[in-house]
Amino acid sequence: PRKIIIDTDPGQDDAVAILLALASPDEIEVLGITAVAGNVPLPLTARNARIVCELACRTDLPVFAGCDAPLKRKLVTAEHVHGRTGLDGPDLPEPVMPLQDAHAVDFLIDTLRREPAGSVTLCPLGPLTNIATALTRAPDIAPRIAEIVLMGGAYFEVGNITPAAEFNIYVDPEAAEIVFGSGAPLTVMPLDVTHKALVTKPRNDAFRAIGSPVGIAVALMSDFFERFDKEKYGSEGAPLHDPCVTAYLLRPDLFTGRHINVEIETGSELTRGMTVADWWRVTKRPANATFMGDIDADGFFSLLQQRLARL
Ligand code: BDR
Ligand code: CA
Repeated sequence: PRKIIIDTDPGQDDAVAILLALASPDEIEVLGITAVAGNVPLPLTARNARIVCELACRTDLPVFAGCDAPLKRKLVTAEHVHGRTGLDGPDLPEPVMPLQDAHAVDFLIDTLRREPAGSVTLCPLGPLTNIATALTRAPDIAPRIAEIVLMGGAYFEVGNITPAAEFNIYVDPEAAEIVFGSGAPLTVMPLDVTHKALVTKPRNDAFRAIGSPVGIAVALMSDFFERFDKEKYGSEGAPLHDPCVTAYLLRPDLFTGRHINVEIETGSELTRGMTVADWWRVTKRPANATFMGDIDADGFFSLLQQRLARL
């Protein structure tokens, strides 16, 4: 199986992304989960990551707390989307499994140095603060990363936190700039993809029909998340952003995109965190990312439903 580290700010959609990875041990080996401040502050994301592990009966998984604020900015959170805890919806017990003593950034660096070069994939599902801090502190790890598959950014769909920017990149644009400039192979799931991965009522009924604690929790999370998106966007169901990352590891054929240049806006307040994607290749700037543009949404949901039923 492919070794991965999930860097995350759970978030209901982060939770589903983690569950999908844990449901797929033949293809994916999760070495650890690193929490970062994002949707909610760090103490809650570190808590929520452990709640998800316990839901999946994986109390053996090491969970690390990382950076509690972006590199240069004040933390912006998204309780308006995810609720006060970040994981509102199901009534899940407080975690009892421990949080590791080591800092998430040390775990990232140590793991990438210890494991064979090119064998560890990073899966960031939140602001890129932990990953950028690791890359800055230990530049030798960049060429050792097999791939970074992340959720963030937008091109045709532009912003969900400002008119120009997607939340994860907006929160820590300086970190995103470091990651996009790192030279590590990068695959990006922007809003252009994730806004097609909508949990419609029949899709959520299918999660609920799994009948297990995981299936029911996922349905309740989507119910909560969907309520927000219906009011705000009038869309048919909540976009399941982050699971696109773990689904890509299992079924890359469900996604299409272009290998292009993507730069991050850090200067302007108006367009802070915009992912300037050279989709039409109108510059000579070198390609640094595979920027996805489309998803087979039905294939994605049947994969999710099948895999979550295994937990
Ligand atoms: C991203 O922001 C968070 O609210 C979600 O968990 C996802 O990672 C979508 O913009
Ligand atoms: Ca997230």
